[in-house]
Amino acid sequence: MLYTHLGSSNLQVSRFCLGTMMFGGKTDEAESTRIIRAAIDAGVNFVDTADIYCDTRTETILGNALAGEGVRDKVVLASKTGMKVGPGQNDLGISRFHYVRAVEASLKRLKTDRIDVYYIHWPHPKMNLDEMMRALDDLVRSGKILYPACSNFPAWLAMRTQWIADQRNYAPLVCGQYPYNLIERGLEIELLPMAKAMNFGITIYRPLAIGILTGRYLDNKPAGSRGEDDARIDKWMNQYSAAVREFVNHARVLDLSPAALANRWVASHPSVSSVVVGISRLSQLADNLRGFDQLLTEEQRSAVTTIFPTDIKEEAGGNFPSWRRRYDIL
Ligand SMILES: NC(=O)c1ccc[n+]([C@@H]2O[C@H](COP(=O)([O-])OP(=O)(O)OC[C@H]3O[C@@H](n4cnc5c(N)ncnc54)[C@H](OP(=O)(O)O)[C@@H]3O)[C@@H](O)[C@H]2O)c1
Repeated sequence: MLYTHLGSSNLQVSRFCLGTMMFGGKTDEAESTRIIRAAIDAGVNFVDTADIYCDTRTETILGNALAGEGVRDKVVLASKTGMKVGPGQNDLGISRFHYVRAVEASLKRLKTDRIDVYYIHWPHPKMNLDEMMRALDDLVRSGKILYPACSNFPAWLAMRTQWIADQRNYAPLVCGQYPYNLIERGLEIELLPMAKAMNFGITIYRPLAIGILTGRYLDNKPAGSRGEDDARIDKWMNQYSAAVREFVNHARVLDLSPAALANRWVASHPSVSSVVVGISRLSQLADNLRGFDQLLTEEQRSAVTTIFPTDIKEEAGGNFPSWRRRYDIL
C-alpha cells in the first residue's frame, strides 16, 4: 500500500481510501464489517463515510466495526455533513447550529470522540463562509474534528474559503473531494491544476465510473449491480463501450485487473492524494487494492488516457457541474 501526505498537512493517508456508501444498503452489516477488517489488514488507513449514507446506517455500521480494541486508531476516519438528514429547516447546510448537532450525532453513531477529516459535503446557496469556517474551527479547537475539508466545491469557492481561513487564522481546508475517472475528466480543466499549485489535497470519488471501468457492463448488466438502477451507466456505455473494451484489453496486457488500472490511473495524477473506492462485496476488494501497489509513469498514464476520446471533458454525471454554473453560492 502506498501512503502520502493529505494535501499540505502532516497527516499520512493510504492512497486507497475505503468508500462505504453501500454499507447498510445493498451491503449488509456482516459483509461491511468483513470488508472494513480486510481493508485495514491490507494496510488501508483511510475510511470515508457521510451522515447521509443509507439514512445514517453506514456510520453506525462503521462505528460498530471500529469499536474493537485498538482498531479506531488505525484509521483516519472521514465523514461529511450538509445534505438533509432530518425534517427540520436546519437539518442540513453549513450553519453553526447544524454543524454542532451533526458532529455530535455522527460521533455517537461512529462510537468515537473525534472525526479526523470532516467534509462540507456540498456547496449551498447564499453561503456565509465566515460562519462556516469559524464553526469548523471551534470544532477543531474542541477536539471533535481534526481537519476541515470540502467536497464538490468549485475551485474558486475552495480558494475563497481558504483565503478566509488564512485571514482569520481558522483551521484551513485540508482537501477537497471530487468525482474523477477516465470518463469524467472535467476536473482537469481547473481544479486539478489549482490543487497542484496551491498544495491543496484532493481525494477522488467514483474512480471506477460506478463500476463501468471494471468491464462488467460490456456484455450485460449483472443482477444486483448498480447498473440496474443508475441511468448514467446506460448513457456512458452507449458513448464509450468501444473504449472500455480496449481499456479492459490494455489492463490484461499489463497483467492488471481493469479495476486496478482504473484506480492506478486516478492515483497517478500528481494532484491526487487518495482515491475513495466503493466496495460492495468483499470479493471486489483485492482487485481494487492492486491499483495501489505502485503508480504509473507519465508515459504509462497517457497511454491509458488516450484509449478514451481525448476530447472527453465530461464534468461529472452528478450534481457537480450544475454547482460550477451557479451565481447564487455567495
Ligand atoms: N463526496 C461526494 O459527494 C461523494 C459522492 C459519491 C460517492 N462518494 C464516496 O466515494 C465512494 C466511491 O464512490 P462510488 O461507489 O460511486 O464509485 P466507484 O468506486 O466508481 O464504484 C464503485 C462500484 O463499482 C463496483 N465495483 C467495485 N469493485 C468492483 C470489482 N472488482 N468488480 C466489479 N465491480 C466492482 C461496485 O458496484 P456494484 O455495487 O454494482 O457491485 C461498487 O459499488 C463512495 O463509497 C463514497 O464513500 C462521495
